[in-house]
Formats: sequence, structure tokens, C-alpha cells
Amino acid sequence: MRATPVRTSLLAVGVTIVCVTLRLGGQGAPAQRPGATPPPPVAGTKIVTPGAVLFRQECVFCHGVGARGGMRGPDLTTGTWSHGGSHAELIATITDGVQGTAMPAHAHLKDEEIAQIVAYLRTVQQPVTPPRGDATRGEALFVGSGRCGSCHLVKGRGGRIGPELTTVGSARSRSYLVESIREPARHLTEHEGTGEAGARRYDTVTAVTNDGRKIVGVAMNEDTFTVQIMDAGDRIHSLRKRDLKDFRHEDRSLMPAYGEAQLNGAALDDLVAYLQTLRAPTPARKGEPR
Ligand code: HEC
Ligand code: HEC
Repeated sequence: MRATPVRTSLLAVGVTIVCVTLRLGGQGAPAQRPGATPPPPVAGTKIVTPGAVLFRQECVFCHGVGARGGMRGPDLTTGTWSHGGSHAELIATITDGVQGTAMPAHAHLKDEEIAQIVAYLRTVQQPVTPPRGDATRGEALFVGSGRCGSCHLVKGRGGRIGPELTTVGSARSRSYLVESIREPARHLTEHEGTGEAGARRYDTVTAVTNDGRKIVGVAMNEDTFTVQIMDAGDRIHSLRKRDLKDFRHEDRSLMPAYGEAQLNGAALDDLVAYLQTLRAPTPARKGEPR
């Protein structure tokens, strides 16, 4: 699900229209919501509840279809929760968001609507699967022979050319983590650089200077005239585009694909088990000193 800027804004417009319709229709007759066309039911579900409709409008963009996790948010069907799975804890997480992560507050939703979403989440919950892999061995691999730490920052240590992974365990689903390692190019991580493209992806850029120097890396910042590239040695090159002989974005990851030969199934499980321990702290909540 690679949303182009155009598609994203169309989606945003669509969502806004549906929200407005729902809001107008909802006044005085919250149960019926006249005027709103409910989206077609998700395969495998029998009834489309108000919570499911709200989830599609507000949450699918990040948490994926059926809450099974997407490019931007974790799987919410695993039955294990980083920030608590009680009714009150889920209400608090959804209302206030998770500070320091991409999970936003939803102060615009009514208490009743948030309760409907929580009810929906209960219906998609899967049986808890026993954890696979050994996180301690995974950590050794990460900083050692896997060389992951040379490109990724975890809790202040490591390289910077790849995305920081300090909270990747709470932010991403297991299947997303596996795919990121086995097939990094399939869905490139987005990062919020400045630059005119808005949110950009960690694609690979190559610049060739007029004196023939070739720089390969990730663009940290870019506008019409300039670009800052971080190379594999974590050096930042600030370049003026008109001083370049060649400048290209390529739709590939700088991260090598770790196939079965580089990382067998057991090692992959260990690594993912370690990544899953990297979680954002739960923000302090009202009336609950931490
Ligand atoms: C812009 C992306 C985005 C949107 C929109 C979003 N979320 Fe999230 N959500 C996230 C991310 C990222 C996290 C992981 C935060 C962390 O690292 O702990 C998260 C975490 C959560 C959690 C905590 C999971 C846990 O393990 O404790 C819940 C519950 C949740 N979201 C529900 C929702 C609901 C319901 C909606 C819609 C009303 C929603 N989110 C909308 C990105 C989003
Ligand atoms: C040469 C540098 C490099 C190495 C080595 C490397 N990565 Fe990456 N990694 C990247 C870059 C760049 C991205 C962003 C582009 C993409 O999505 O593939 C990335 C993306 C990721 C993501 C997705 C993060 C997100 O939030 O979307 C995960 C997870 C990840 N790497 C884990 C690993 C693990 C585990 C290893 C070791 C087995 C590893 N990486 C080795 C550079 C590297």
C-alpha cells in the first residue's frame, strides 16, 4: 500500500467528506446516521458496526485493513498491548494518543464513538500466539554479525542512515518487521523530512559532482536547489543541485535484503523477538502517577 501524495490527499478529501456527512447526519439521531453511505463490508465480517465504520475513517490509514497493521501503525489484533488492553487503557490511548510516536490524539471523537471503536477492536482480536525467537540472541545478532546497528539507531547507539528503531516494536506489526528484513525494497519507510515533497521515503539517492565524486545515500532534506545526503559512513553532504553532473532518486532500499542464506528462519525469529522488545513508553495518564 504505497500511497502517492495524490492518492493520500484524495483519500484525505474522501475521509473528510464522509466525516462531515456522518457528523451532520449524526446530530440528534446518532443511531441512524442518515445520509452516510456505509462502506462495503470487509471480507469475512458479517455486520458492519458503527465502530468498524469509524475505524475505517480514522484509523485504517495507519493500522491497516481489519486493524492488522499497516505501513504506519501496529497490528491491533494480536491481543498483546504495549500500552494496556483494559477498556479504560484503550480509551485513554485512543483519546490522548501516544506522545513521541505517530499515534495521534483523537480529541475530536465523542466518548461514545471511542467506545464503539474499542468494541470493534474486541471483535477483531485473534488468539494470542506464543512468542517465537529469543530476544537476547536477537540483540547480539543486531549489534554483531547482522550489522543492523551500523545503519540503525537504537536508544542512542548505532548508525543513522536508516530509520531509528528505538520504538519499532510498538510501532510495527510482526509481519511488517519480517518484510522489512526479507524484502526491504517492497515498502520503503517514510520519513518526515522537510522539502517540497512533504513526507518522503527512505529511497536511495545518487549524486555525481562536477569533479566526478559519486555520493550514494539517503536524502535527509531536499528542495528545488539543494539536497543533503547522508552516506553509509553517516557523513552529511550538503550539495547544490546546479553543481551536480547527475542526481537521481532510485526506488530501492539501501538496506540489503536478508534472505534465508544470510539469516535463517530461527535467526530471523530471534531478531524480530528483539525488535519487538523496543517499545515506546506509555505516557502518564490523568490520575495515574507513574
Ligand atoms: C498517523 C497514524 C495513526 C493513526 C491515524 C492512528 N494510529 Fe493508533 N498508533 C499509531 C502508531 C505509530 C502506534 C504505536 C505507538 C507506539 O509506538 O507505542 C499506535 C498505537 C495505537 C494503540 C496502542 C497499541 C498498543 O499496543 O498498546 C492503539 C490502541 C491505537 N493505536 C488505536 C488507534 C485507533 C483506534 C485509531 C483511530 C481512531 C488510531 N489508532 C489512529 C499510528 C496511528
Ligand atoms: C546499509 C544500511 C542498513 C543495514 C545494514 C540494515 N538496514 Fe534496516 N534499513 C535501512 C534503510 C535505509 C531503511 C529504510 C528503507 C527501507 O524501508 O528499506 C531500513 C529499514 C528498516 C526497517 C523498517 C523500519 C520502519 O519503521 O519502517 C527495519 C525494521 C529494519 N530496517 C531492520 C533492520 C535489521 C533487523 C537489520 C539487520 C538484519 C537491518 N535493518 C540492516 C538501512 C539498513
